[in-house]
Amino acid sequence: MSSTKYLLVAGARPNFMKIAPIYRAFSARRNAHAAASLPLLVHTGQHYGRNMSDDFFRDLGIPEPDINLEVGSGSHAGQTARIMMAFEPACLEHCPDWVIVVGDVNSTLACALTARKLGIRVAHVEAGLRSRDMSMPEEINRLCTDAISDLLFTTDTMAGENLRNEGVAADKIHFAGNTMIDTLLQQIGRARQLALPDGLVPGQYAVLTLHRPSNVDDPGSLALILGAVNSIAGRIPVVFPVHPRTAPKLARIELHPNIRVVEPMSYLPFLGLVARSTMVLTDSGGIQEETTVLQVPCLTMRPNTERPITVEMGTNVLVGTDPGRIVREAVSILDGGIRPGAVPEKWDGHAAERIVDVLMSPAYRLSPPNIVGLREE
Ligand code: UD1
Repeated sequence: MSSTKYLLVAGARPNFMKIAPIYRAFSARRNAHAAASLPLLVHTGQHYGRNMSDDFFRDLGIPEPDINLEVGSGSHAGQTARIMMAFEPACLEHCPDWVIVVGDVNSTLACALTARKLGIRVAHVEAGLRSRDMSMPEEINRLCTDAISDLLFTTDTMAGENLRNEGVAADKIHFAGNTMIDTLLQQIGRARQLALPDGLVPGQYAVLTLHRPSNVDDPGSLALILGAVNSIAGRIPVVFPVHPRTAPKLARIELHPNIRVVEPMSYLPFLGLVARSTMVLTDSGGIQEETTVLQVPCLTMRPNTERPITVEMGTNVLVGTDPGRIVREAVSILDGGIRPGAVPEKWDGHAAERIVDVLMSPAYRLSPPNIVGLREE
C-alpha cells in the first residue's frame, strides 16, 4: 500500500503556532516508522515578511514550506479567490489523501473549499468554535469550513456540542485538545529566558493588542478604546505591538507617553512578554487561550467570544468596548482583584499527537482519492 499523503496548510500568523506541533507529531511517527508519511507544508502567503511570518517559522522550528502560494494581502473575496486558484494546481500536482487546515482565517476556508471540491478529504483543526457573530469574517470561515470537513478536531467540549447541535455526525468529531497550547507549553521555558524590552519589570506592565476590523477600521471605535487605554497607562506602562492592519490608523490618535508602541513581535518574545505581564488587553482569539494557560488576567475588548471556555474556566473577562467598563475592570486587577482560573481539559501539550493518531488510524489512512471536478463546464 502506498503511504497516505497529507498537505498541511498555514497562511496567517496564528496558524503557524497551530501547525508546528502537528508537523512535529508526524515527524515523530516518521522517526519511529520509516514508512510513515511526513506532510507537505503549504504556506498560502496570506501573512508574509519577517515580522508576520518568517520569524515564526524560525522560532517554532517549522521547516521551509514545500509549497508557497505567495498570495499576499487583498479584499476578502480577492484573497480567498487567489488562494483557491493557487491551491488547486498544488492539489492536482501532489494528489493528497488529506488536506489539513487549522483555525479560522481566509486561508483555512479557501484551502478547505478547494480540496473538498476536488474530492480530497479535509481535516479541520480547531473546529466548532462559534461567536454567533456573523459580522466577523472568521465566523463565516468557521461555519463554512466545518460544514464541508470530513474530520473535525475540537479544542474543548463546548465546540463539540456546537457541532453536534448543527447536525454534524458524532463520528466525525474528535475532542483532541489545543495545538496552540502544545506550542505554548513546548516554548514557554525558552520564552521566559528572553530579556524583556528595556525598562520593563516583570509583573509591572500590561500588554495591548488590537487588530479586529470592528475595533480598528473605524477611527471613532479605535479612539474610544485607546482613550480607555490612555487612562490605564496613567497607572501602569502598556506595551503595544501594533498589527499592520492597525498601524496606519494610529497616526491621528494621541497616546499616553506610558504606552510603548512597538513593531509586531515574533512568537517567543511575545510569549515571554505576556507570561510576565500584569494583565493583557486584547481583541485576539488565541491570546484569550494563551493567557488562560499562563494564568495572566485577560480583558477581551469584544462584545462576544468564540472561546467562552476561557471566560467560564479561565482568566478571561469579556469587557466589550465601553471605555468605562474597560478602565473599571483594569483598575480592579491593578488593585488586586484577580480572579483565579483553571486550565481546560486536554490543554496539556499532547493535542497534536492525538490528532495524528486519529489521522493515521486504519479508518482514515486512505488510498489516493480520485481527484474530481478538474473542469466545471
Ligand atoms: C488575519 C485573520 C485574523 C487573524 C489575524 C492575525 C482573516 C479573515 N483574518 O487578519 O483572523 O486573527 O490575521 O494577524 O483571515 N498585512 C501586512 N503584512 C502581512 C499581513 C497583512 O502588512 O503580513 C496588512 C495588509 O495591509 C492587509 C492587512 O494587514 O490588508 C490585513 O491583513 P489580512 O490578512 O487581510 O487580515 P488580518 O487583519 O491580518
